[in-house]
Amino acid sequence: MKHKTLITSTILLLIVCFTTFSFSSGHGDKKAKKVGILLVAFGSSIPEAQVSFENIDKKVKAAYPNIPVRWAYTSSIIRKKLAKMGKHLDSPEVALAKMLEEEFTHVAVQSLHTIGGEEFHDLRRSTRAFHYSGGFQRILVGYPLLATQEDMQRAVGAILENIPKERKNKQAVVLMGHGTYHPSNAFYAALMFQVQRKDPNVYIGCVEGYPEIDEIKAMLMEKNIKKAYLMPFMSVAGDHARNDMAGAEEDSWKSILTKAGIQCVPIFKGTAEYDSFVEIWIDHLRGALSHF
Ligand code: CO
Repeated sequence: MKHKTLITSTILLLIVCFTTFSFSSGHGDKKAKKVGILLVAFGSSIPEAQVSFENIDKKVKAAYPNIPVRWAYTSSIIRKKLAKMGKHLDSPEVALAKMLEEEFTHVAVQSLHTIGGEEFHDLRRSTRAFHYSGGFQRILVGYPLLATQEDMQRAVGAILENIPKERKNKQAVVLMGHGTYHPSNAFYAALMFQVQRKDPNVYIGCVEGYPEIDEIKAMLMEKNIKKAYLMPFMSVAGDHARNDMAGAEEDSWKSILTKAGIQCVPIFKGTAEYDSFVEIWIDHLRGALSHF
C-alpha cells in the first residue's frame, strides 16, 4: 500500500513537473486566476448511496455557483468496480492533473471523509506534490467532518437532531462508524463520550475499529436496552450499512443485537444526506477558499 502510494506520488510529481514546464515555456504570460473545487470522497459503488454525493454536490454548487466543481474518489477498489459498470471516476491525483491542464490556478480540495485517517493523509501528501512542483499557485485541503472541537460539538448536534422522532428515551441509537487502525480512530470514542453527555443512550461503534460491536452490545445489555435504531455514521449508506450493519448474516450488527434480545430498526441514510452534517464539510471548504 505504502509502496504503491510512493510510486504513484513519484509518477505524479513527474507529470506535474512536465505539465508545469510546458506551461512556463510559453510566452511568459502570467496565468489568469482560475479557482476550482475538488470534492474527494472515499466513494461507493452502490447506486442507492449516490444520493449522498448528489446532496453534497448540490449544496456546494448552491454555495459557490461561480466556482467549477470536480469530483474524485480515493478508493481504487471502488473506482475499478465503477469502471466495470461503465462509470468513470478519477483518483484525486488524476483529477488534479486534469485541473492543471484546464489551467486552474487555485484549488480547494475538500475531503468528504469522516475523520482524518489514512485516506485524508494520503490526500494531503498528493496535494503537496502539486504544491511544491509549482503546478498551482495555491492548493489547500479542507478538513474532514471531524477535526476540531467545534466540529465535534456540531456533529453531536447533528446526530441528536437527526434521530428518528418516534424513538423513546429508553431506546438506544447505535451509530456505525467505519473505523481504522490509524491513530485518528480515537475520534469515534471521543464523539460517543460527548454525545452521551447529552443523550446517554446514543452509542458509536466501528465496523473496522474500536469500539467494536461486542463492546457496544455489552453497554446496551448493562442498561437493559430492548430496542435500538441502527444508523450508519458514514457519508453514505453503502455496503457497510446494508451488509455489516443490517444484513441477514449472523455477524451483522442487527443479527448480533437481535440475538441478545434487542429489537433493531435499521435506518439507511448516510450522514451526507443530512444538511446539518453537510454544512460542517461546506464550512471547511469555505475555510480553504477564504485563503484565495
Ligand atoms: Co470499509
